[in-house]
Amino acid sequence: MKALVYHGPDRKAWEEVPDPEITDEGDAIVRVDTTTICGTDLHILGGDVPEVYAGRILGHEAVGTVVEVGDNVHRLSPGDRVLVSCISACGTCRFCREGRYGQCLEGGGWVLGHKINGTQAEYVRVPYADTSTYRIPDGVSDEAILMLADILPTGYEVGVLAGGVRPGDVVAVIGAGPVGLAAIATARLFSPSHIVAVDLSDARLKKAMEFGADITVNDSHEDTVAVIKDLTGRLGADVAIEAVGVPVTFELAVRLARPGGRIANIGVHGHPAVLHLEEQWARDITITTGLVDASSTPTLMRLVNTGQLDAGRFVTHRFSMDEFEQAYDVFGDAASNGALKVVLTRQEEGADK
Ligand SMILES: NC(=O)c1ccc[n+]([C@@H]2O[C@H](COP(=O)([O-])OP(=O)(O)OC[C@H]3O[C@@H](n4cnc5c(N)ncnc54)[C@H](O)[C@@H]3O)[C@@H](O)[C@H]2O)c1
Ligand SMILES: [Zn+2]
Ligand SMILES: [Zn+2]
Repeated sequence: MKALVYHGPDRKAWEEVPDPEITDEGDAIVRVDTTTICGTDLHILGGDVPEVYAGRILGHEAVGTVVEVGDNVHRLSPGDRVLVSCISACGTCRFCREGRYGQCLEGGGWVLGHKINGTQAEYVRVPYADTSTYRIPDGVSDEAILMLADILPTGYEVGVLAGGVRPGDVVAVIGAGPVGLAAIATARLFSPSHIVAVDLSDARLKKAMEFGADITVNDSHEDTVAVIKDLTGRLGADVAIEAVGVPVTFELAVRLARPGGRIANIGVHGHPAVLHLEEQWARDITITTGLVDASSTPTLMRLVNTGQLDAGRFVTHRFSMDEFEQAYDVFGDAASNGALKVVLTRQEEGADK
């Protein structure tokens, strides 16, 4: 089969590799029908996630069709259309029992495209397939459901739920990429008084308004702290969500929160960020950070299915799988082309391009 293989920082190629095989009786082999690229893949290519070795197939999001299941898979059969979550879960370890699938102790968690081969491929081996995939209801498009593989649960769980967004809150979201926009869209479910989106790209800020932000701030030439102070009687935001993954935005998020406020870090960080405890120690703040569990996937699927959450609108660009290089170029240069999620779809055998 063909797959997108990581060859070290800044190097990748769509190339011929061996087909995946069932290696554990809980595995399934899924034919990837639709996959996408995540900001985290850019962090990997930037060298920020050193545990990803050269030779790894990238990707941790997919919608596909089950082609083969191991002897210990009971809830899936060949032909089933499934969402492959970015988080795999053994389902039985201490953390999985608590719904903390991201922290799975038995080889689950974020493993796809990280510790084992991922979904940017024609086929993928999914471990613990019963508890790491979701059967897809009829009537919902592959593209919309694909947004539940990572960005929507991430924005919702690691941003909105961890940050404890409540009705009436002022919520600052730093980073209006797909994950920040997912946080904005799901924060709206809680009726905050204002959502302030912060980014360096006007194109992304325009998207933020479409996804539910009330105010936008371009931090390259506007004073974000002053905007938030003016809005909140000098207090600061109730919740500041960091959805970029660089030190300066984490440090900004901490400065934006009011006394007693909450800072929810979502970003994947490759460099140390400074926590100015000498300024913050007396301010009663709560800082959360973590990996998505994707435990909210069934809830989000219901919201998508009933039309309360429009997941399909994240998709801006479409490619076939042999166009991975272009897709990465477009996704990596989102500031100039307005890209949010780029979707790569399997070509039907024998179909013309
Ligand atoms: N914690 C988790 O489980 C988890 C899961 C998925 C993704 N992530 C991380 O979430 C982050 C966002 O993902 P994404 O796919 O939306 O990434 P992205 O790269 O598409 O978007 C990041 C956005 O931040 C903006 N930005 C960059 N520097 C900025 C600055 N100094 N100030 C304000 N805005 C700035 C960019 O213009 C862009 O719009 C990434 O770090 C990704 O790795 C974390
Ligand atoms: Zn991701
Ligand atoms: Zn587990």
